Amino acid sequence: MKVLRHGSSADAARAVAQEVVALVAERPTAVLGLATGGTMVEIYAACVERAASEGVSFDRVRTFNLDEYVGPVAPERTFRAYMEEHFFGPFGIEPGPHAFPDAARAATDALGAARAYEDAIGRAGGIDLQLLGIGRNGHVAFNEPPASASSRTRVVELDAVTRADAGAAFGGVERVPARAITVGLATILEARRVRLVAFGASKAPAVERALLGPVTGTLPASLLRGHADVSFVLDAGAASGLG
Ligand code: PGA
Repeated sequence: MKVLRHGSSADAARAVAQEVVALVAERPTAVLGLATGGTMVEIYAACVERAASEGVSFDRVRTFNLDEYVGPVAPERTFRAYMEEHFFGPFGIEPGPHAFPDAARAATDALGAARAYEDAIGRAGGIDLQLLGIGRNGHVAFNEPPASASSRTRVVELDAVTRADAGAAFGGVERVPARAITVGLATILEARRVRLVAFGASKAPAVERALLGPVTGTLPASLLRGHADVSFVLDAGAASGLG
């Protein structure tokens, strides 16, 4: 495990982008595991900028997003819309047919949608590099505490902390969907590289527990410490609890 501390989120984003773009330069059909959230906005902008400056095309990458809301959600609030805005649009590429778990199917056939997503990741040969954020409650993807290291793609109930944090984007916590379909921790732990990114002091307690506390499902990100190639990429605020 590596802990990479940067002075600013911009420096951290540039470092992550450098790695992502280098991977795609070396392997144009790389399989990327992608996350959403405020943190990733900076990461994707840095990736787009670096790919352009290096002349690296993302046309042939294959992508799998971590999760999607289940239930009635305005189209502009879906993670697909977020990814169009911050990743697929700026790169000028189309998401593949399995770039997101099938939230519509998950509403009535949770097991089928979950299995189909795991199968699609398997058919792609697994994930080369998985990007992750971390929730204030220590979640990764929507693996809310308590989570199991053997969990697979499934439909979950969202935690109160998660729904509160999403409330602003939805115009009120009561409008945030109650459920989502998310990849599991076992799915994430099978990625060949895992890069968890955290910015800002609000993440410092979760980061501190993930890195220095016990490895436990009550702080799901701590379970990543068992991965052979995981880095926690932090700005000064997120690292402020580490001493
Ligand atoms: P954020 O979300 O980047 O919006 O803080 C991260 C997460 O909850 O995984």
